[in-house]
Amino acid sequence: MGVDVERQFQQHWRQYQRDSLRFEVRDARGLTTEKAISLAISIFTIQFMKPGDKMPFLKRLYESMADGGALLIAEKSLASSAWLQDALTFPYYDAKLRNGFRSKQILDKERSLRGQMTLWERAKLEENLQSAGFAEVQCVWGHFPFFCYLAVKR
Ligand SMILES: C[S@@+](CC[C@H](N)C(=O)[O-])C[C@H]1O[C@@H](n2cnc3c(N)ncnc32)[C@H](O)[C@@H]1O
Repeated sequence: MGVDVERQFQQHWRQYQRDSLRFEVRDARGLTTEKAISLAISIFTIQFMKPGDKMPFLKRLYESMADGGALLIAEKSLASSAWLQDALTFPYYDAKLRNGFRSKQILDKERSLRGQMTLWERAKLEENLQSAGFAEVQCVWGHFPFFCYLAVKR
């Protein structure tokens, strides 16, 4: 089952239609499932939740999962210090320029995201996954500022 809270996101689901897949416009924070979840995938989504909603969501997700179940979670992250954040932000824009984005597109994207995200540092993400209950937490992909973790319930 796939969910996204924004109705406009539905257009992206058409290419993934399968009998075994179901997509719904839903708020993940209120999601309940009949069966225990064996694999949950959260791609750059929790970063858009309000700070006070993130831990309750992770804890509820953990409670809804089967023993041995896994969460793959990708999140945009903050650097571990203010000066590193400052030092790494422009190389990130440079990488976008090298990948064909124009300066205006980069600035417009930043403007559209202003005030929308509540990012954690990587260490905080790891710590919060553990405190939600996940016994094993391993980074499986990424480079600053995007990282993906595998978190396993045991
Ligand atoms: C960067 S996009 C990632 C979309 C998708 N997961 C992907 O990988 O292509 C972030 C998405 O999170 C969705 N989102 C934010 N808060 C949500 C919530 N509480 N429940 C469900 N979706 C949410 C937004 O609507 C947005 O489409």
